[in-house]
Amino acid sequence: MDGKIVILTGAGISAESGLGTFRDKDGIWTKHSIEDVATPEAFARDPARVQAFYNARRAQAAEATPNAAHVALAELQAARPDTVIVTQNVDGLHEAAGAKVIHMHGELSRALCAACRHRWDAPLEMRVGETCLLCGAPEARPDIVWFGEMPYHMEEILDHLLDADLFVAIGTSGLVYPAAGFVEEARIAGIDTVEINLEATEASALFDRTVTGPASEAVPAWVKGMLGR
Ligand code: OAD
Repeated sequence: MDGKIVILTGAGISAESGLGTFRDKDGIWTKHSIEDVATPEAFARDPARVQAFYNARRAQAAEATPNAAHVALAELQAARPDTVIVTQNVDGLHEAAGAKVIHMHGELSRALCAACRHRWDAPLEMRVGETCLLCGAPEARPDIVWFGEMPYHMEEILDHLLDADLFVAIGTSGLVYPAAGFVEEARIAGIDTVEINLEATEASALFDRTVTGPASEAVPAWVKGMLGR
């Protein structure tokens, strides 16, 4: 197949690197409530709890290494440089595998000033009341898009999506908007759509095809097919 590929990845692609997904059995949202750790209100109410949650996830992500799925997508992008990878993941495993990605939900490795929006590299452990390197406000927070906030780079992502010939969603439950709406946008635009997931999801009916299997096997097999090997 020729043409431009836009790929959306979710927590499932990092599951075999040892990072937990959100909504599976034993997922992160079965142990923590979104309202306690992943909203601006939670940070205003109890910043120590929110920082502790993301410090733990940052430490876990720092130990993780890319799996065969991250590596295969980096190979695909190297062979077809117009391939766009958009991730909902806040880990750095795509980059560690050598890919260039658009982080729509932010990054664990970055800090954000809630007062002036300045960003910088986060320390492994962020403390409550840490000051902004630019404006000095004691309002440093993880650079993560929380529920109720607008994901990053939406205009750029939608431009890429509408310019695509194939849209592929990998390891995402398809339940969190706006990412969940990409497949519908693609369908309306007449773009071919493929889902790769451990199992069929609530969104499967919206895709032209669903490939089931663990990402570390299903993604390299799909990439091999795309590269005609
Ligand atoms: P979810 O936890 O909602 O979904 C993970 C998906 O990965 C499920 O559909 C699983 O079937 C699939 N999966 C699990 N293991 C897999 C494997 N080894 N190979 C392939 N697929 C596998 O995670 P996301 O869809 O990424 O946002 O969640 C979207 C957003 O919700 C996250 O970015 C996060 C969360 O709340 C924020 O925190 C803002």
